[in-house]
Amino acid sequence: MRRKLAAGNWKMNGTQARLDVLDALNAAHVSTPCDIVICPPAHLLIPAAKACATGAVEIGAQDTHTAAKGAFTGDISAEMIADSGASHVIVGHSERREGYGETDATVCAKAIAAHAVRLTAIVCIGESLAEREAGSALDVIAAQLQGSVPEGSTGDNVVVAYEPIWAIGTGKIPTMAQIGEVHAQLRQDLIARFGPEIGGAIRLLYGGSVKPGNASEIFAVPDVDGALVGGASLAAADFTPIITALADS
Ligand code: 13P
Repeated sequence: MRRKLAAGNWKMNGTQARLDVLDALNAAHVSTPCDIVICPPAHLLIPAAKACATGAVEIGAQDTHTAAKGAFTGDISAEMIADSGASHVIVGHSERREGYGETDATVCAKAIAAHAVRLTAIVCIGESLAEREAGSALDVIAAQLQGSVPEGSTGDNVVVAYEPIWAIGTGKIPTMAQIGEVHAQLRQDLIARFGPEIGGAIRLLYGGSVKPGNASEIFAVPDVDGALVGGASLAAADFTPIITALADS
């Protein structure tokens, strides 16, 4: 059985005042059957990890450099992320792939860097609207999965997040059949590559406009093991019902 995971990506939002959200989530989900990870901006990693030291919420970063250290102004390494008290890191978010030209090879190298310091990599993949409309979504996603998820991945050190780019921040979501089709293929491809035990243990999240109102429907889709949530993870009042829907699914 895969343990469900509700992950929140705060993106470039939040100052120290927003750490209150973590207190509220820890208070509301004391004995939740799901894992909960919040990925705040880098300057909040240390205080966020401290705020969650005794709570259910775990902390993740939103990106990592591939190198352990060096002359990379403005970047953060996986070792630094682990040193902050975080346990996870998002790699290959479409906003990094599109905005910074990250390739599958870059994303894979970032996941390897995360593994070197025992961080769990949340590897993001997903097609553009043009690719969806051209009928190539499944091919694009298969190639991204193959190229971005490193050898040596397990159910403990990798989570795959399917985030169709056209669903991020738009309020649009794929049909449940489309989500189910993608997740079934991802599961099949992971099992083909890593074998039934590891391929069956890697969790698959859906991301893109997940809200309290659509969460239950999405979590009922086979092979959806949770969600990677942007906007609706910024307030406990929005994220709590999503976590509850996941726990109840
Ligand atoms: P939204 O939930 O705001 O659509 O963002 C999804 C996302 O990009 C999470 O990484």
